[in-house]
Amino acid sequence: MGLLAQAASTQLHGFLPTRGSWMLDFVFTAMFAIIPVMGFSIYWVKYRKPNETYKCEWHKRLQLTLAAVLLVAVAAFEIDLQLVTKDWRPLAEASPFYASKIVDYSLWIHLCFAVPTPLLWIFVIVQALRRFPKPAAPCQYSARHVIWGRLAAAAMLMTAVTGWCFYWLAFVS
Ligand code: HEM
Repeated sequence: MGLLAQAASTQLHGFLPTRGSWMLDFVFTAMFAIIPVMGFSIYWVKYRKPNETYKCEWHKRLQLTLAAVLLVAVAAFEIDLQLVTKDWRPLAEASPFYASKIVDYSLWIHLCFAVPTPLLWIFVIVQALRRFPKPAAPCQYSARHVIWGRLAAAAMLMTAVTGWCFYWLAFVS
């Protein structure tokens, strides 16, 4: 490939030394920040002392911030795949897992988590905002929030793990 053509093709790629587009790289990297913050937010509220209800309010702030960051990331991701990169397949064709459809299977597994997770998050947040007192503190609704909150957190973790696997199979290997 000529130098100019090479420059043009690398320009389309992201900031990681992989075949991923800028947005794919961004979401891949962002999840490494989002998952530990989510883990901290839940650990923080779970292991608080009885007189530390302010930690509930911090948990609320952190979860709402995470949701806002994720909303922006998902929007940017969709814009990238629908309008900018359009098709990720040409970027993945060089992968040894592309022809055997392993990349496709891994994307399907990822989508099984990535599609329901935002719906679960919206449900957990809307219910929490409606039912917890302000400032946030334990109440009658706590037990149900703990169940749905754990499910939503597990779904987000699985979305990240399966997303990382897809990214690695398609754009790294
Ligand atoms: C998707 C967003 C959220 C997730 C995934 C989430 C997750 C969780 C989890 C897993 C716990 C229980 C920790 C444990 O004891 O095992 C918890 C506790 C709590 N969360 Fe959330 N949460 C979210 C949003 C919110 C929001 C928006 C509020 C406030 C309006 C809130 C208020 C609380 C409170 C007050 C507790 C303590 C409940 C208690 O122990 O009595 N959470 N959350």
